[in-house]
Amino acid sequence: MALRNLVIEGDPLLRKKSRPVDEITPRIIKLLDDLADTMYYDNRGIGIAAPQVGVLRRVFIVDVGDDHGKIEFINPEILETSGSQVGSEGCLSVPGKTCEVDRPFYVKVKALDREGNEFVLEAEDLLARCICHENDHLDGILFIDKSVDGKVYKAESDDEEE
Ligand code: NI
Repeated sequence: MALRNLVIEGDPLLRKKSRPVDEITPRIIKLLDDLADTMYYDNRGIGIAAPQVGVLRRVFIVDVGDDHGKIEFINPEILETSGSQVGSEGCLSVPGKTCEVDRPFYVKVKALDREGNEFVLEAEDLLARCICHENDHLDGILFIDKSVDGKVYKAESDDEEE
């Protein structure tokens, strides 16, 4: 079990574009494991992306508590989106803040798993929202950039964070 320090809003690292993984090395596997430890610690999060622990690589994980459990994404690519859903979001890197964000209701995403196998996943609702939120992190975009009313609010302590 290894927790990594979270990079917090205001740190320029969160605004950088992450680079693709060209080889799945033991370092990448360790990164995936540490992301999970850091996300699950204290039941804090439903998703976390590598830049949130200071690693500018195109890697994130999600676990929205559905039958999928934890899903790991390496070099994700969103292939299709449709529909729309407005809902509140939070982020481990933006503690204590929330706002309403408009996301696709459906996404089709392609990525590599930790064995290097390509998979395609179709997701809806909260899982689609979480995948879009994490994918944005890889391009230096935070959910607060996308507030539907341009405002950011103080979060309740039990809100889920991504
Ligand atoms: Ni986030």
